[in-house]
Amino acid sequence: MPIYERLIEDHHRQRVLLGRIVDSTGSLESRRRLWQQFRLVALCHADAEEMTLYEQLKASPSGLERARLSMMEHKEAAEAIERLDEMDMANPEWLEKFQSLARVLRHHMKEEEEHVFPLARTIISEIVARDLARSFNKRRGALA
Ligand SMILES: [Fe+2]
Ligand SMILES: [Fe+2]
Repeated sequence: MPIYERLIEDHHRQRVLLGRIVDSTGSLESRRRLWQQFRLVALCHADAEEMTLYEQLKASPSGLERARLSMMEHKEAAEAIERLDEMDMANPEWLEKFQSLARVLRHHMKEEEEHVFPLARTIISEIVARDLARSFNKRRGALA
């Protein structure tokens, strides 16, 4: 499997968790559990994505700008995640801020799938893309 398909699987997992967190209106306990799950997946995904796909893109003149932009978005998302993690979930502002993070992340994943991966396919060979999937799994698996 080339890395793109693996990343899309992971994006799907994040989208499902984002939706479940919004839906978990009845129980703060389950929202907390889902949030911790999501937080770990989102942070580990971005980390492993940077160490594999974006490492390769950065090395190419036509991929450098795009890689920088995505990595900046990862950094901003990670900061927003940590701010939310420190906030009291019972505060109604928490869900508002969470929803704005969810919008940003959905947009980021869509951009990756519609623009970054097609660009990467023109830069990275099929064989390397498969190797990257293995490296991604190793890194990602070690973390979450
Ligand atoms: Fe990303
Ligand atoms: Fe991603």
